[in-house]
Amino acid sequence: MKTVSSVRELRAAVAEARAAGKRVGLVPTMGNLHSGHAALVRRATQLADFVVASIFVNPMQFGANEDLDKYPRTLAADQETLFEAGCDLLFAPTVAEMYPRGMQGQTRVSVPGVSEGLCGGSRPGHFDGVSTVVCKLFNMALPDLAVFGEKDFQQLAVIRRMVSDLNMPIEIFGEPTVRAEDGLALSSRNGYLTAEQRAAAPRLYATLMQMAARLRDGKSDISALIRDGARQLEEAGLRPDYLEVREASNLQPATLEDRHCVILAAAYLGTTRLIDNLAVDLGDSAKS
Ligand code: PAF
Repeated sequence: MKTVSSVRELRAAVAEARAAGKRVGLVPTMGNLHSGHAALVRRATQLADFVVASIFVNPMQFGANEDLDKYPRTLAADQETLFEAGCDLLFAPTVAEMYPRGMQGQTRVSVPGVSEGLCGGSRPGHFDGVSTVVCKLFNMALPDLAVFGEKDFQQLAVIRRMVSDLNMPIEIFGEPTVRAEDGLALSSRNGYLTAEQRAAAPRLYATLMQMAARLRDGKSDISALIRDGARQLEEAGLRPDYLEVREASNLQPATLEDRHCVILAAAYLGTTRLIDNLAVDLGDSAKS
């Protein structure tokens, strides 16, 4: 696996693969890779003949008081993970390569609707940063397809909408969340947790599962479900940022008539913000 840091080298390597008739897949990441990322790369190897991963800790998607500076940079270990997962090329650009004129005057991509509320509400400007950098990565690597994790459900919805609205000829694939044995969704931010916080963290997913069971039995109204779920999180020592039940396709607030819902949550343990979600398919028949 080769590592390149310039757009020129990336384009040359992709052009060579394309000239050999290969289908190109891209897996954008911010590094500090875990088995969830490895699963994205393995999926990409099933879908494409030439897999490019990118590692770029994108300053544009971090708010002023967020963890940009302390975000873990672990390039050597990440190269190992990518190589073992079957990646062909790693693109690891500098900030200057990605934003040569600085971020201030950079043209931005903004996706209305699905980027609003949830993480977009708590992290103003975050999704503009994500859609802008992903758009740039798409234009730099010119992939046929790209793979993203479903753990960042709203991010995936934003990217799908951007690709559709801007007619980008790229197929987007979502890959199921990889979890630790106790249910905690793998995340680079889990490394910030103390032992005590790590022990409490699985309660986030446990709460989503209990809410999903109640949603399926159809006896609770959605606001009661959310109120009880938030109480459960607080009792476990988590501070909910948001806990919502949304219609899966457009992320609008769900009603009991919606058949494809997703429960989305963000919660703090100390200063670490964890996110998770659980899709709930209620089938086609009306609830009794
Ligand atoms: O999910 C991430 O790691 C990032 O938001 C992404 C998609 C690589 C854009 O920086």
